[in-house]
Amino acid sequence: MAKIGVFDSGYGGLTILRAIREVLPDYDYIYLGDNARAPYGTHSFDVIYRYTLQAVRFLLEQDCTLVILACNTASAKALRTIQQKDLPLINARRPENQKVNVLGVIRPTVEAVPAMTKNGHVGILATPATVSSESYVLELQKICQQPSARAHSFSITQQPCPLWVPLIEAGEHTKPGADYFVDSYLRSLLDKDPLIDTLILGCTHYPLIKGKIDAWMAREKKDGTLSVISQGALVADSLADYLSRHPEYRNRLSMNASCRFLTTENADRFSQSASIFLAEPIEAQQVILGS
Ligand code: DGL
Repeated sequence: MAKIGVFDSGYGGLTILRAIREVLPDYDYIYLGDNARAPYGTHSFDVIYRYTLQAVRFLLEQDCTLVILACNTASAKALRTIQQKDLPLINARRPENQKVNVLGVIRPTVEAVPAMTKNGHVGILATPATVSSESYVLELQKICQQPSARAHSFSITQQPCPLWVPLIEAGEHTKPGADYFVDSYLRSLLDKDPLIDTLILGCTHYPLIKGKIDAWMAREKKDGTLSVISQGALVADSLADYLSRHPEYRNRLSMNASCRFLTTENADRFSQSASIFLAEPIEAQQVILGS
């Protein structure tokens, strides 16, 4: 029976996996973190696409019928090409009842924005690759054009945060030294547009420093006018909705409430960090991603 694959460059996708398992606890999951090659967010399109495709192929070989790119950078840079170019070829070689699909995290996040913002001023914190892809800007513009959308035209401001993922991957994000970089990127974003009332943490690693972000906001934005969008819950609800509409995938999924953890880096280190974050004992396995 098939499983749901959840992929990220490293630890960030655990924030999505945790939310998905809260909403859909019964399915079987495989989590894959490409920690050995993280961060992705400072790489070029070609590299991010190649690494992501390798991860997707690997998860499909492990009997995943759906793969969630629990990574904004991979969703921004690789998802469209994989959906348009690679999946049709992969599915053409599979029998009709064995088709697979790959889903991203940006669209479900953006769909929550119209209901959250009061003044249309939206701030996006993301990796340099996600920012340069303009994926959030383009998706938000599409939402505005939908007949069902409230008649917002958004004012969108982006801030690349190149050092947040390296700090998190190195386990330095809870230390006082990380405060400097939290302050620096948040201040830079809000200096560009002080009217921002809705903040998208457009990288799945960033909820791991949410404590520091909240502390900064409590200090610097005392009026409480700034809300942060919680990507994990949105992606989880969107997957639940997708499965309810797609029995061709849902009916093939096994339901033993299990999760295997795979990493391309040291398994002990991953197990230790993931166990702390998920508050359950994790035993990860190391894997090698090829072509
Ligand atoms: N969690 C990834 C994201 O959502 C981080 C990318 C990276 O490795 O830089 O963008």
